[in-house]
Amino acid sequence: MDKLVIEGGRKLSGEINVSGAKNACLPLLAASLLTNEKCIISNIPDLKDVNTMLEILTQLGREVIKKGTTVEILPGDVKEVTASYELVSTMRASIAVLGPLLGRYKKAKVSFPGGCVIGPRPIDLHMKGLRALGAEITVEAGYILATTRGLKGTRIYLGGHFGSSVLATANTLMAAVLADGRTIIEDAACEPEVVDLGNFLLAMGADIEGLGTPTVKVRGVKELKGAEYSVIPDRIEAGTYMIAAVITDGKLFIKNAKVEHNLALIDKLLECGAGIDEEEDGLVVYRKTRNIQATDITTLTYPGFPTDLQAQMMSLVTIGDGISVITEKIYPERFIHISELNRMGAEIILEGSTSIIKGVKKLSGAPVMASDLRASAALVLAGLVADGKTEISRMYHLDRGYEHIEEKLSAVGAKVWRVKE
Ligand code: EPU
Repeated sequence: MDKLVIEGGRKLSGEINVSGAKNACLPLLAASLLTNEKCIISNIPDLKDVNTMLEILTQLGREVIKKGTTVEILPGDVKEVTASYELVSTMRASIAVLGPLLGRYKKAKVSFPGGCVIGPRPIDLHMKGLRALGAEITVEAGYILATTRGLKGTRIYLGGHFGSSVLATANTLMAAVLADGRTIIEDAACEPEVVDLGNFLLAMGADIEGLGTPTVKVRGVKELKGAEYSVIPDRIEAGTYMIAAVITDGKLFIKNAKVEHNLALIDKLLECGAGIDEEEDGLVVYRKTRNIQATDITTLTYPGFPTDLQAQMMSLVTIGDGISVITEKIYPERFIHISELNRMGAEIILEGSTSIIKGVKKLSGAPVMASDLRASAALVLAGLVADGKTEISRMYHLDRGYEHIEEKLSAVGAKVWRVKE
């Protein structure tokens, strides 16, 4: 297992290019199962999770050709409708093949994804959406078995205890595009990644209205064709590097970062003392105030503050003036970074799903470990500003979601390297 070593204390400056969005391209790749024509998807990031999805498509019988950041999915019929435990257990987003397999092949067998270090991650809403469309679903020997004699459009309310669900909306949408008649998904997720999936489906010939709103209307079509499509930039990767500029008191041009995808983050960074200038093809981000200012954040569904940037913002305010408060409303247990940040000298306590962060003057480098992607990103940010050396073990978490992170950070002045173990 590789680890990442950082020698902190350097101000970052220069340009960082944002890669294609992991959470947009995973369901989009799954959606290619809805046609038997060639799909060409570009701006695909080089990430472990993407490779897992490509492996699933291959296991399902599709031929996949990867050329740089472009992936071609060639015609070829699916023989096996099974997504195995071995692959699904390494990446929950594998569940995104359920809707397309059911829509196109009328059956699917997908390993039940199970728990996750960021807390319980049920799939009741996925099942609710698909059952409403006419699927029969059972769980046997750890697998979700779904079959249908033919999906039929209907009105579905898809809201859950924590609001809308990104992947449940994606699965329901992908099943509905080939269903008979009209489907209305109420309390649909509005995240840019869902809109991107919808735009890809439109390019394939689907009939969808209301993308990016809580009411998405689909009129089923008989079949979908192949399409060429480019994935949106990764707003969470962009956000992580925006925070890197502010925490290190540097100045970065984050190429491809989009204001409209990062409104809540921008609002909070400005409150913390950042300066942010919008350019045609990205954002310039720097620190305006001498010290980082305290803030309060509550994670919410889009366009609220994203849970996937909660840990990184926590690193920022650990060295802020005063007391910050961060409440997690999407995954109430997503706080595994707190104990590691405290090992680096932060002063954070947790009360239920609210963390109280008392700003300290400085962090100090330490060996740390995080068992989740975004928590690991938070430790990278802390390491960049900490005195001395930080060693982050289990780097494979970062490799799941941050393309070539050590190269991107080194290119803007960070002293960071990977140690192969
Ligand atoms: N939920 C349910 N029932 C369900 C599905 C979800 O109660 O059937 C709950 C979840 O437990 C959570 C809330 O609904 O409290 C939202 O979860 P959502 O379904 O939106 O999450 P997801 O679709 O499984 C995606 C991202 C996550 C990101 C969340 C929230 C992908 C591949 N993953 O997950 O990304 O945190 O949306 O925005 O798109 C990451 O990239 O690090 C990551 C975890």
